[in-house]
Amino acid sequence: MCGIVGYIGKEQAAPFLLDGMSKLEYRGYDSAGIAVMEGSKIRLEKCVGRLDALRAKIAGDMPVGTIGIGHTRWATHGRPCDRNSHPHADESGKFVVVHNGIIENYLVIKEELLAKGHVFLSETDTEVVSHLMAELWDGDFESTVKKILKVIKGSYSLVFMTEHEPGKIICTKKDNPLVIGLGEGENFIASDIPAIISRTRRTFIMSDGEIATVTADGVWVQDINGTPISKKVFVVNWNAEAAEKGGFEHFMLKEIYEQPKAIRDTMTGRVDKENETITFPELNWTSEGMAQINKIFIVACGTAYHAGIVGKYYLEQLARVPVEVDIASEFRYRSPLIDSNTLCIVISQSGETSDTLAALREAKKLGARTLGVTNVVGSAVAREADQVVYTYAGPEIAVASTKAYTTQILAMLMLAIYVGRLRNTLAEDRAKELVRGLGMVPEQVHELLENVDQIKVFARQYASCEDAFFLGRSLDYAVALEGALKLKEISYIHAEAYAAGELKHGTLALIVEGVPVIVLATQSDVYDKTVSNLQEVKAREAVVIAIGFVGDENLKKYADSVIYIPKTDKYIAPLMAVLPLQLLAYYAALTRGCDVDKPRNLAKSVTVE
Ligand code: G6P
Repeated sequence: MCGIVGYIGKEQAAPFLLDGMSKLEYRGYDSAGIAVMEGSKIRLEKCVGRLDALRAKIAGDMPVGTIGIGHTRWATHGRPCDRNSHPHADESGKFVVVHNGIIENYLVIKEELLAKGHVFLSETDTEVVSHLMAELWDGDFESTVKKILKVIKGSYSLVFMTEHEPGKIICTKKDNPLVIGLGEGENFIASDIPAIISRTRRTFIMSDGEIATVTADGVWVQDINGTPISKKVFVVNWNAEAAEKGGFEHFMLKEIYEQPKAIRDTMTGRVDKENETITFPELNWTSEGMAQINKIFIVACGTAYHAGIVGKYYLEQLARVPVEVDIASEFRYRSPLIDSNTLCIVISQSGETSDTLAALREAKKLGARTLGVTNVVGSAVAREADQVVYTYAGPEIAVASTKAYTTQILAMLMLAIYVGRLRNTLAEDRAKELVRGLGMVPEQVHELLENVDQIKVFARQYASCEDAFFLGRSLDYAVALEGALKLKEISYIHAEAYAAGELKHGTLALIVEGVPVIVLATQSDVYDKTVSNLQEVKAREAVVIAIGFVGDENLKKYADSVIYIPKTDKYIAPLMAVLPLQLLAYYAALTRGCDVDKPRNLAKSVTVE
């Protein structure tokens, strides 16, 4: 996720900017840059790579000036390279901006600006903002920013500088974080508190739609209509480590709570709420092309493999194409039957997993069309697959994957709706219904994450158990697999997931008094059968925790406890049903004193066989 810093005051800006950016490194980045007001001119320095590359570039010739902005970039639009790094300027260099987020309508704006003669240097969505600033400049900094906000759509934290009004920095935000730090004769701007706590602990958090004018002497906040807003200043007492985790005890918990935003960002530009349809401008597939596909392989490792299993249900049911899901380390050695009518989708958070990459290469060699679904722009999967769909979860630091998984299954659902419409296997009305449902997900996920006390209690209650089982049918089974993986990898409790109907073919022998069994019951077409299986384990005196939709009173009759998730479509349910499972694993691991973010023997990115 991009990191933003800004300084205006009495000291040199560049050293603070570089230090602040280094404190945001944990957010992940692939390039860095700063813009400093040198006298009356803005000097821009940026390059791809680590901060040290930027430091080396300006060593011996640091920009001199007391006003500046800086940015660490986590690529979303355009690969990591010098030109795509922030800050971005217009042709004159007088207007400069840094951005975190996604400008959804940048292509339309870019076309208009190109027609007006603007020359673009980068492939980023952000660059439209600096050109817009030049285009809309009316002699007043605040007024111009307000005009920009009326044009752009999407999610953003934006920080602007201009040579026309050199004594101020203006910033604003929507759906992305921005904090202001208050000093004496100096003020600070940052994406996150770690960047500023070495210089001030007096801060306030910007809210969506607020516009702050920051000078050395003060900060004025207003809304787009010019109404002044008074902000409550608070004193941060976190240490640097806690600040990196945004006040959460672990990265894993922070990432669980980032899911509403990760989901919203991954929908950006794809879920078209107005026309109630799904678009994938980066794919541009046609009905003719999709009609030729007669087989899909989904190949991945770990959590991404589990997302692939969810994807199989989606693609088979909505797009009516046979799908095989394979573990990458198996696929690469088993001579899969592939031809040019095969589509091979590889899913990988990092885009660097060795087996997944080898599987991708194998599929290409055998003549398949390939699609990468990855979270890292410019990663090996992104470079080598014929086409790429990015998940926009932001960097995931905890070894146990959470927000990457939800965005992967979201990407698979959006893809299945898209392909289903192209192949005409999904009725338009049904697609619209799903799109409407998707539109509600970020808010529903947020709501669910606000009410987790019951989950904490269960996790503590069962943290001392040796075994746990997860049951479900259809998509619930696919989610159960991920729930079991989460629990075992971070709490070291032996956990297994079973297709509920398979239970009596062996595993039922392990169900004895007091064993916790988590039963997912969100799939209407197999609901009754799942409830029968629930009763079978209950009859063996297992402790049953059911997961179902709000309002499902029936579950209470059979389960010991029920965790309710917001009511949604059966295809959307996995996006919500997995959340209690992630939290159960997290709180169980916490109770057992495990190293949640770095479980024993495991690595975040497995780049060896
Ligand atoms: C490791 C990680 C898992 C991840 C898997 C695949 O095992 O610990 O969280 O799911 O690799 O990684 P990828 O980056 O390819 O999704």
